[in-house]
Amino acid sequence: MSYETILVEQRGAVTLVTLNRPQALNALNSQVLADLIALFAAYDADESQHCLVLTGSEKAFAAGADIKEMADKSAADMYLRELYSEWTTRICATRKPWIAAVAGFALGGGCELAMMADFIIAADTAKFGQPEITLGVAPGMGGSQRLTRAIGKAKAMEMCLTGRMMGAQEAEQAGLVARVVAAADLVDEALKTAQKIAAMPPMAAIANKELVNLAFEAPLSQALVSERRLFQILFSSEDKAEGMAAFIEKRPAIWKGR
Ligand code: CAA
Repeated sequence: MSYETILVEQRGAVTLVTLNRPQALNALNSQVLADLIALFAAYDADESQHCLVLTGSEKAFAAGADIKEMADKSAADMYLRELYSEWTTRICATRKPWIAAVAGFALGGGCELAMMADFIIAADTAKFGQPEITLGVAPGMGGSQRLTRAIGKAKAMEMCLTGRMMGAQEAEQAGLVARVVAAADLVDEALKTAQKIAAMPPMAAIANKELVNLAFEAPLSQALVSERRLFQILFSSEDKAEGMAAFIEKRPAIWKGR
């Protein structure tokens, strides 16, 4: 598969993807969106890949949707094409785990893309923001909702209303990112974490992801029923038999992914 705006490398069972539009600080134009849709579909379909890291450059993870591409769009253009919402739905439909490794600016759609990841590892240089208000609009790829769920109303409202950026340390304290690391170590740390996830039983990884995400979708009573059912179903997997046998026999498990 060839892509115009992203670089893709497989490192064992981990896919490393780098946004590559440096001239526009990785702004998300239609080509980036198309490349990412194709990439995530290919990742989900590739049985050899079990975790993915998406990163940008030192200066910018992504500085938002491409303003130059949006500037002459009308409401009808946006409504009829549903470009961003369709794209968001497809990226969020990815079943396997993936991590956003963020250095520099993650603004607007860039912040929203990072928040679509299962979690964010941030460089100490990372700056998150939803500055859409300064352009006369509002977040359009889920930012108003995902940011609020991640960091609460007070901070999310302040960020959306003022367009202010939040630095990495504050983002970690607020619960937006899982961990902050030195900028020079960002990709290595994210890859190490991804390798740890890729070494887990793959079906259980998908189930764990599905269940944690359910906490944002379903009422607690229903989510707990789903948790119980998935937990019970996993008892029929070969990997459950292997994982428990390996523990008892004090040996490493060999996963089948079934
Ligand atoms: N879209 C298109 N081009 C962008 C861009 C964007 N979102 N962000 C940066 N660029 C371009 C700049 O136009 C510039 O290109 P030229 O050299 O051709 O002029 C190049 O990238 C470098 O940017 P700057 O010169 O501005 O770099 P800087 O270091 O001075 O500033 C910045 C960096 C603060 C991130 C600034 O570029 C900026 O504010 N960018 C826009 C951020 C923004 O408003 N994002 C939200 C977009 S709207 C959105 O995302 C909607 C949605 O939810 C779907």
